[in-house]
Amino acid sequence: MNPRDRFVDRYKEGTTPWVHENPDFNLIEIVENWPIHPCKVLELGCGTGVEAIWLSKQGFEVTAIDGSSIAIDIAKKAASSADTSCNFMVSDFITDNFEGEYDFIFDRGFFHSFDDEEERSFYASKVASLLSPRGMWLTLVANSDSPPRDSGPPTRSARNIIDAIEPRFKLLTLTVSYFGNNQDNPPKIWVCLMRNR
Ligand SMILES: C[S@@+](CC[C@H](N)C(=O)[O-])C[C@H]1O[C@@H](n2cnc3c(N)ncnc32)[C@H](O)[C@@H]1O
Repeated sequence: MNPRDRFVDRYKEGTTPWVHENPDFNLIEIVENWPIHPCKVLELGCGTGVEAIWLSKQGFEVTAIDGSSIAIDIAKKAASSADTSCNFMVSDFITDNFEGEYDFIFDRGFFHSFDDEEERSFYASKVASLLSPRGMWLTLVANSDSPPRDSGPPTRSARNIIDAIEPRFKLLTLTVSYFGNNQDNPPKIWVCLMRNR
């Protein structure tokens, strides 16, 4: 099921525990340690825009979409306060016809929202169709090896990720980390970087 409506409601209610102030260190480490130089980047499910704004400040040409107009309004204001420009758009990644060619695609906690294998494969195929031939996709995915929690994001196994990305992507790195946010006990994640095949 497309999670968009659920998230739109959560922004309306103000129950958005994923909202964070500083750019996630996992994105920063990947950009600094891999050959990811300023280029055309697309962020999917960008929320309030923290990572999109960081990428823009590094010289990337950023398009960032989210299904929630509340999130995008906050992101636009934050970009203006940070004196940087990103192309923020309200858009449904699953149902909207999306065009363009990007060298780098990033999502933090969006790909993992899909419970069905078929939906995750569809998501991966859509990402592949928007990437340049050697383009890279970085996804941060809550990790199913986490100890049980009362609440938190849906979690996925390494196999869930691999099943969705094969055969479209070549896996570059799959490591265990935790969400970079201001929580005391942030969820464990997979940091998965792939290249278009
Ligand atoms: C867990 S939140 C993560 C937000 C942001 N990446 C962050 O880390 O703060 C998932 C985001 O995906 C967005 N989303 C859900 N379904 C979507 C869809 N079909 N199209 C675009 N965005 C969607 C939600 O509105 C939400 O902002």
